[in-house]
Amino acid sequence: MGAILSVYNNKGGSGKTTSTISLAGCFADFGNKKVLVVDADGQCNLTEALTGGQGDIVAGTLKNAIETGSLNECIHTCTFDKRNKKTGRLQGKYTIDIVRGDRYIESLEDDDVHSIRRLIEEVREDYDIILIDINPVMTGLTITSLLGSDFVITPSMYNIDHIQGISKTMDLIKTIRDSGYSDSLEMLGVYITMHKKNNSLEQLIKENALESLGGLLFRSETRNTAILAEAAYTNMPVNSLQVTHPVVKDYHSLSLEILQRLEERLKEGGYGYGKE
Ligand SMILES: Nc1ncnc2c1ncn2[C@@H]1O[C@H](COP(=O)(O)OP(=O)(O)OP(=O)(O)O)[C@@H](O)[C@H]1O
Ligand SMILES: [Mg+2]
Repeated sequence: MGAILSVYNNKGGSGKTTSTISLAGCFADFGNKKVLVVDADGQCNLTEALTGGQGDIVAGTLKNAIETGSLNECIHTCTFDKRNKKTGRLQGKYTIDIVRGDRYIESLEDDDVHSIRRLIEEVREDYDIILIDINPVMTGLTITSLLGSDFVITPSMYNIDHIQGISKTMDLIKTIRDSGYSDSLEMLGVYITMHKKNNSLEQLIKENALESLGGLLFRSETRNTAILAEAAYTNMPVNSLQVTHPVVKDYHSLSLEILQRLEERLKEGGYGYGKE
């Protein structure tokens, strides 16, 4: 049974979409996991970055899936180059499935807060990991997406606005649980994006603001590098563009930490999915 992870920070521009793609690439390529990514953001940056170069795609969008109540016709498979980690030489292919975003999704009147959850349930058995890229604000779609997940993972820069976004995200999870809509949604962890080495402000923020997160903070930090924008521009995860780049190691190590944490949750008694 696949684990469903929402990638969310209440603050925009924290690297949600970029890390969704990079983690999906690492899970699928290095971890041989069957991965589904869901673009639940009307900006459609995830969709553009993974499928932008492709012509006619017959699969519908997330909006179409919500309208029809079925995901079956709305999953598109993207195929990417698998490269040797040391030499960068081509050594095969791997795939990531995507439910594409829709620019008009926010105009959808959806009274069912569990619609995304029901849709994903339909295909959950087919995947190891399902990642939902969420919009940075807080709309009905944000709640529906969070309710479709077992866990939230939160990217944050070493930046006070983003760190405040972490506590707003935690508050939102608590509100959702207190409201009775979910008793299982949980923060799996927080990770640092766009990390700049030897930056004294970052060090100060790390020591002060992030201390309170304790074990929630993943050890792996993902560095600041323009190659991630290049990967999005060329419509592929960074591990397919340049597998030997150090940022690929960052994301690989983060993906392993996430898998380990999921494994621990599974041992503690499952993901709690379906316990409403
Ligand atoms: N590790 C990184 N190093 C350098 N640039 C990065 C990194 N991660 C993301 N970026 C860049 O930062 C910008 C914002 O990233 P991204 O779109 O992933 O954030 P987001 O949280 O999804 O934004 P939004 O809130 O608008 O959905 C993009 O231009 C992206 O290329
Ligand atoms: Mg985004």
